[in-house]
Amino acid sequence: MSEKKDFKRTTVTAALPYANGPIHIGHLAGVYVPADIYVRYLRQLGQDVLFVCGSDEHGVPITLRAKNEGKSPQEVVDRFHQQIKESFMEFGISFDHYSRTSSQVHYETASNFFEVLNDKGVFEVKVAEQFFDAEAGQFLADRYIKGTCPNCGYEEAYGDQCENCGTSLSPKELKNPRSMLSGAQPVLKETKHWYLPLDKFEPWLRDYILEGHQEWKSNVYGQCKSWIDQGLQPRAVTRDLDWGVPVPLPEAEGKVLYVWFDAPIGYISSTKEWAAEQGENWEKYWKDPESRLIHFIGKDNIVFHCIIFPSMLEAHGEFVIPDNVPANEFLNLEGKKISTSRNWAVWLDEYLKDFPGKEDVLRYVLCANAPETKDNDFSWKDFQARNNNELVAIFGNFVNRALVLTHKYYEGTVPEQGELTEEDRNMLTQARAIPSLIAQSIENFKFRDALGQFMELARIGNKYLADNEPWKLIKTDPERVKTIMHNGLQLAAMLSVYGEPFMPGTCARLRNILDIHDHSWKNESETSLLVSGTKVKKAELLFQKIEEEDVRKQLEKLEATEAENQDSTKKTKSMIEFDDFTKLDLKLAEIKAAEKVEKTDKLLKLELQLGDETKTVVSGIAQSYAPEETIGLKVLYLENLQPRKIRGVMSEGMILMAENQSGELSFLVPQKPMDSGSSVS
Ligand code: MF3
Ligand code: ZN
Repeated sequence: MSEKKDFKRTTVTAALPYANGPIHIGHLAGVYVPADIYVRYLRQLGQDVLFVCGSDEHGVPITLRAKNEGKSPQEVVDRFHQQIKESFMEFGISFDHYSRTSSQVHYETASNFFEVLNDKGVFEVKVAEQFFDAEAGQFLADRYIKGTCPNCGYEEAYGDQCENCGTSLSPKELKNPRSMLSGAQPVLKETKHWYLPLDKFEPWLRDYILEGHQEWKSNVYGQCKSWIDQGLQPRAVTRDLDWGVPVPLPEAEGKVLYVWFDAPIGYISSTKEWAAEQGENWEKYWKDPESRLIHFIGKDNIVFHCIIFPSMLEAHGEFVIPDNVPANEFLNLEGKKISTSRNWAVWLDEYLKDFPGKEDVLRYVLCANAPETKDNDFSWKDFQARNNNELVAIFGNFVNRALVLTHKYYEGTVPEQGELTEEDRNMLTQARAIPSLIAQSIENFKFRDALGQFMELARIGNKYLADNEPWKLIKTDPERVKTIMHNGLQLAAMLSVYGEPFMPGTCARLRNILDIHDHSWKNESETSLLVSGTKVKKAELLFQKIEEEDVRKQLEKLEATEAENQDSTKKTKSMIEFDDFTKLDLKLAEIKAAEKVEKTDKLLKLELQLGDETKTVVSGIAQSYAPEETIGLKVLYLENLQPRKIRGVMSEGMILMAENQSGELSFLVPQKPMDSGSSVS
């Protein structure tokens, strides 16, 4: 095992996010918050650490989004790269450099990497049949092909996976394949590609991972083992696409590097850019055997970072290989899978607008709930509870008391420690054991545990003041109060130093208040961090309560998303059979009564008349219609939709609306007088 080896420096990478959408809490909890905690901790230790990232701007997720929006891929990545970069900075993820894979340096680095491997004869070149869209004149990436799943019959399965039953597929297995470019039936056509023969790397990979890195997280090790045991196949590292890094060979006209070949090389390109700006040497972070390479990623990236990229690095020959790949599982939101395309997420840029100055609250909650060993859930209720009951009531409350009393009794001067009682000594021993526990947890990538241990320190402080009640003792034993307050302030100082990796903004504020300038990490903090006689600044609240109102607004946003997802106008749909259509029970319904659903902006509650029957529907139309405007209208209504509760009201069926580009809605009303309850077909 390599963990005992002494390293001179650490190169930390965080998965390059696709520039096809903003960053959300799933990315943060899985990758960026843990990576940032780790890096900040290493910096506190005074280690040489480099933290690089950047936008992943190639690949089908980008071209698909561009196509859906009628934009060029470059326009899409320009927009999101900028946005992602800014929100990371604002949130306090402390990258040394944030690059992008459309940069010049990256094109050169990735092409050169390919050339080296090609010159060494690493690749196998094979001609194989692939689906081609003759109408569009293009070969089709797996995600550009849809068809019927051979396993479950789902008609919207992708060329690489059926999202209905989860089976992974190859395009040729799909029944009735169709091109998502033109809708045409694709034809098979021969094409030449360069393959990385992973099968040949198998013995090396067994040695490297299965023998050499048994200390890796069990989810990571387990996935690697099962991949290797299943038998590795050669993998094409080129594609017939016009978006990506061109394959640097004359006979490869019109082909680009596979996104998963070029993207991880982005870590190297990012390092090169950083080094050029700093007048540093990039190579020592990648080529010196005394450099330790760590990749922070989500679980869907494991095979690329543990098997494919290390094989590439090994084949190249000049690079170090990853020493650890701490991958997290997934974070869900309110019990449902986070999804960029379904807009089911808490977006970082929106969070920063909705909760200004509360970056650390989100860092705290995401770390406390991090999906380290299994998928986990984020809920707004839990967010509020953790803020109010932990950050405000424990950490914030303790620090505030210590500072306020110091000002009240000593005009802000830290009193002498005086004589310690046995209880004081026990408390201090207990508290001083914590930094090395936090350190151990962080070094083992157990960030939740580390944060729990940190909060234990705040709990100790809170309890110490509550038990000793200096506000009562001040009348009878002012000398004793000095000792208590001195010790309390030492604990506050410890919080301001050891909390830095988790809540950097808050801890910097606290250090400023306490006039602490050195925040280096000392495991055995026998000596006090705060010197008697230091003047501390006035207390400011480190955390503020999150109100019901704030939570309600966020939940309402999610409800609106849900309602929108049911409204399907935005999606391009495939052909349906007439039978599918006849399943819909469409009718004319007359609106008898309408009112706003309380505490919402978008929802109206409507009472409908259908002949003798009445129905209640909650409809997201309040921004296009005032309640009174709707009364008496006969509107298009879908009756046989599974009823569901919205804002506490059971909604039966749904009103069908037309929607224009700017999101304005209109009822569809009959052009001749018609009775309510008339059927529509
Ligand atoms: N863009 C990929 C994703 O979001 C991650 C790329 S990581 C890299 O899943 F190593 F390839 F850069
Ligand atoms: Zn299926």
